[in-house]
Amino acid sequence: MLNNTVDFLREIIQKELGDFEPEVGIVLGSGLGELADEFCQLSIPYSEIPNFEASQVSGHKSRLVFAEINGKKVVMMQGRFHYYEGHPIQKVVFPIKVMKKLGVKTVILTNAAGGVNPAFNPSDLMIITDHINHMNVNPLIGPNDESMGNRFPDMSEVYSPKLVEMVKKTASKLGIDTQEGVYMALTGPSYETPAEVKMARIVGADAVGMSTVPEAIVAKWADMEVIGISCICNSAAGVSTVALSHNDVIHAANIAKERFKTLVKEVVKNL
Ligand code: HPA
Repeated sequence: MLNNTVDFLREIIQKELGDFEPEVGIVLGSGLGELADEFCQLSIPYSEIPNFEASQVSGHKSRLVFAEINGKKVVMMQGRFHYYEGHPIQKVVFPIKVMKKLGVKTVILTNAAGGVNPAFNPSDLMIITDHINHMNVNPLIGPNDESMGNRFPDMSEVYSPKLVEMVKKTASKLGIDTQEGVYMALTGPSYETPAEVKMARIVGADAVGMSTVPEAIVAKWADMEVIGISCICNSAAGVSTVALSHNDVIHAANIAKERFKTLVKEVVKNL
């Protein structure tokens, strides 16, 4: 299955771009997809890629984009697959395995998240330092492909501390403020209750969201370096008294997107 998809993509890449092996993979979260529009050299809709599903969340396009950014060859997911859409978890992480096979060494996972840390404000960018998997599912369950990774992969440093430092320094040189923290993933699609957000805070989360963690687990398993950046789009339930809406999330992502794009472009350059 994986080889079919990779062969299909390699053939198109070769035809359109020649010898092009992406070394960086970027997953663009809600409202953050414009980076792909800015640089697109080749785009392939998910609906045309064997074994890909179509992502249908508003604020997400559904295509794989190949481009060179600041001298680095990059593959970008403009829109990702979410577990809450009903996709099996293996489908959610399938593109990460495809990236690995295409030659990607570093993945940058981005998302929209709710702020659990009371010091965070909507449209803040948070560099992910660690995660808590509260989805009650692990994408590595099932037979293990030993050619890609171990049965019991170490998760002590999913988000490479060296790269966390690099992102921090890069942001500071650009004059972009960043936060740092732990991202907790829940399945969604309902937002959390205030009691759940309180629990998240107590167990050490700074932000909550509905993605990223399955992809990060698979990327680490497959020996890729991982950078995670959350756009804090709202204060999570109970942290503020305002009711949550997807439109507000997209609005906050829109406010952050220029800063976000500037940061990601420079991070890619510094990899
Ligand atoms: N909770 C979970 N996911 C989210 C949120 C939130 O508050 N905001 C954006 N994505």
